Amino acid sequence: MRLLQLMAAGACHSGETLGSQLGISRSAIWKQLKALEALGLEFDAVPGKGYRLTQPIELLDRAAIIAAIPAQLSTHLNAVEVHDEIDSTNSYLMQRAQNGAASGTVCLAEYQRSGRGRRGRQWISPFGSSIYLSLLWRFPVGPEQLGGLSLAAAVAVTRALHDVGARNIGLKWPNDVICEQRKLAGILLELNGEASGASNVVIGIGINVNMPPTASGEIDQPWTDLTSICSNPVSRNQLTGLLIGHLLETLTTYQQQGLTPFINAWCQADILADQRVELHMHDKTITGTARGIDNDGALLLDCAGKLQRHQCGEVSLRRATPIR
Ligand code: BTN
Repeated sequence: MRLLQLMAAGACHSGETLGSQLGISRSAIWKQLKALEALGLEFDAVPGKGYRLTQPIELLDRAAIIAAIPAQLSTHLNAVEVHDEIDSTNSYLMQRAQNGAASGTVCLAEYQRSGRGRRGRQWISPFGSSIYLSLLWRFPVGPEQLGGLSLAAAVAVTRALHDVGARNIGLKWPNDVICEQRKLAGILLELNGEASGASNVVIGIGINVNMPPTASGEIDQPWTDLTSICSNPVSRNQLTGLLIGHLLETLTTYQQQGLTPFINAWCQADILADQRVELHMHDKTITGTARGIDNDGALLLDCAGKLQRHQCGEVSLRRATPIR
């Protein structure tokens, strides 16, 4: 990773200079570049000059992240871990929770080998292009009282995005973060209950910041990133610190008051409000008009005049049926 620190700003470096700076041979440099390419980074070979990153990157920097967390909130923070490479920040923190990690532990990675999305999907996680963050929180209540937490977390994500200049951010029930009908960020909340009646929750968040064009072919839904929608470049470290701050504030508020303080903000961002939608459940699909959420975060669906509440499933906008 020292090689990447030398190259992060995007300048051109010869194999020889890099080799002498790192005390290794030119062929070892070449091998490291190939290994970085395998993680999703792209390099140009400039004839007679050497190598450079196709796009400069801002590497995650623990000190810069912590500096961006508002001081009054960092009292709820236990630790911030930054990994170059990991299977999944969520899987890692769930494991750490079993082994006694404290509430308020945050894990970030530059690259996830097996990033996980909702409903068993993959979360494509190229190196240095996005934010892959998980936060562990221990609640003194059982999982049944945490039904609305993923919606509150989605509100926290929209607030952090707003802070860095992203506009027209919407939410698709329960917690997809959308801009111009494309997915910008996703949330995977995982929890387990303890015999004592308490719960361990890991909130995993992926935000597309500056995705490489090569990611397009791998992602199975329309997506966007902050580079495409913001007029100014977004600092990953700044956004990460702000996001951690909003999450800590959200978790402490949710612990005292539940979803209620977040319902207005969630409904204001609701892109499905009053739209004809389809709700896909594992064994059936139902059609109705989306009417927001109830106090527990369940989706309210008006089906032929009857209001139904649903706690799981995947919603999509219903395409207009062609008139014959
Ligand atoms: C979704 O499908 O919308 C949820 C995506 C969640 C991705 C994040 S990235 C950090 C954390 N680690 C994972 O493996 N998944 C979540």
